[in-house]
Amino acid sequence: MQHIEIIVGSQMGSAEYVAEQLKEALKDQDIIAAVHEQPMLNDIVHPIWLVVTSTYGAGDYPDNLLSFISELDQQDNLDHIHFAVVGIGDTSYDTFNFAAKNCSQLLVSKGATQLLANLEIDVLDDVLPEDTALEWLPQLVEKLPQSRE
Ligand SMILES: Cc1cc2nc3c(=O)[nH]c(=O)nc-3n(C[C@H](O)[C@H](O)[C@H](O)COP(=O)(O)O)c2cc1C
Repeated sequence: MQHIEIIVGSQMGSAEYVAEQLKEALKDQDIIAAVHEQPMLNDIVHPIWLVVTSTYGAGDYPDNLLSFISELDQQDNLDHIHFAVVGIGDTSYDTFNFAAKNCSQLLVSKGATQLLANLEIDVLDDVLPEDTALEWLPQLVEKLPQSRE
């Protein structure tokens, strides 16, 4: 059975809602996802991570993600981790989806393997964020290590 750890960065709930929708869609494919709304490294046991995060301030991480990012910063080596990132942002900001961008860069800098390019959702699009994410999800499932076992 495949496991995915969904790590959420959200202040007003949009990213959290998208994460929950992705979890349900994964369950339909017999992939078990745990959603971490207050992520801490100690609680995250499986090596496949899906980060779903919005962006705040001038391209900052949402508050609930700050301590997790600081934990990641302190890691020497995350080369056992495979990950993907879904960003939810707003193109009216110059710092569009910077939290997602910075998170994937940080993970790569620690040796983690990026499974596919970030999905960067724009809340100004007509399509609902969860619909964009659900449409993208099969691409991630295709790339999961041992996803066919
Ligand atoms: C004060 C504030 C600052 C924001 N800053 C950014 C930003 O720098 N870059 C960006 O892409 N989106 C930015 N946004 C847009 C949010 O990321 C977007 O509304 C997102 O859907 C919020 O998700 P959440 O409900 O999960 O917190 C900002 C929104 C607010 C209210």
